[in-house]
Amino acid sequence: MSEGILLFIHKSEANQLLMLLLKNKGAYLSGEDISKRFGITRSAVWKQVNILRDMGYKIKSSPRLGYHLEESPDLLLPEEIWAMSELEVLGSRIYYRSVTESTNNDAKRLAQEGVPDGTLIVAERQQGGRGRMGRMWDSPEGGIWLSVILRPALAPAEAPKLTIMSAVAVAEAIIQLTGISANIKWPNDILIDGKKVCGILTEMSAEMDLINHVIIGIGINVNNDNFPDELKDKSISLKQVKGDKINRVKLLASLLEKLEAYYVKAEREGFDEIFDRWRALCVNLDKRVRIIGKNESFEGTAMDIDSSGALLIKTLNGGVVKVLSGDVSIR
Ligand code: BTN
Repeated sequence: MSEGILLFIHKSEANQLLMLLLKNKGAYLSGEDISKRFGITRSAVWKQVNILRDMGYKIKSSPRLGYHLEESPDLLLPEEIWAMSELEVLGSRIYYRSVTESTNNDAKRLAQEGVPDGTLIVAERQQGGRGRMGRMWDSPEGGIWLSVILRPALAPAEAPKLTIMSAVAVAEAIIQLTGISANIKWPNDILIDGKKVCGILTEMSAEMDLINHVIIGIGINVNNDNFPDELKDKSISLKQVKGDKINRVKLLASLLEKLEAYYVKAEREGFDEIFDRWRALCVNLDKRVRIIGKNESFEGTAMDIDSSGALLIKTLNGGVVKVLSGDVSIR
């Protein structure tokens, strides 16, 4: 197991003083009000404030006005996520790690231990981040490296729909927060100007006809902008596009709210609306593409996705092939 800070918090055990300060960022809260609210002495409030200061929170105090949160450390701490979002299904448990091997590995272990639907694992940095098709995933500080454990009432064959759902949620959150026009490349890459800003690695444990759990691993290049040479031409971060740092907590909160809304909707009404949104964001459709599988590759025209999330390719000899996995390059 990697070194670093590991926090597991259930929402009901959140640091309530921190939540209060975050929800009232910029406003003064009197020491007396805080001590009455939590039933603790004013010197205990002072001690708690100093603990938060040690964590990197800039909290101003004035004997007349009280306490005032000026600045948060740039960390994806559970309280930051909860204070910034309205979530019911996702994130009632958050495992936060300053450094880990891979949040998907952590998620796999936790899912086997039985953690509930919607559990999140968030890391500031991964030392062995994993991508699709056995690739490595560069995961330095500044990005969002996240895994979501889902336990949907779906047949195993329907699991790819959850990846499609997640790609739509990520692309829409990026567009909403930054105004940058992000697209989706089948099956689950988010691109900006043809370069990859986000990848999604979905892993599943299932029986013949029932899903035990699905792990959606999402990696977003946000404020990390120093890519290794082999990725420089293919990858991009939001900071590189905007020319300035992006508020990661806001982006993550927006992504989780969208993901939750689609997840709840899909369980009630199915995936039709999500698929329509995906089609509107997809860069492959009606384009000549090359499909690169593990053992073979071929060319054709990407026509649509079918109801299972597979890409339908019209091949050069006029047949239609269903592609369930692989990479797509646009010709
Ligand atoms: C891809 O190859 O496009 C998928 C990349 C997925 C990366 C994310 S980062 C969080 C989670 N943990 C991992 O080890 N991988 C996924």
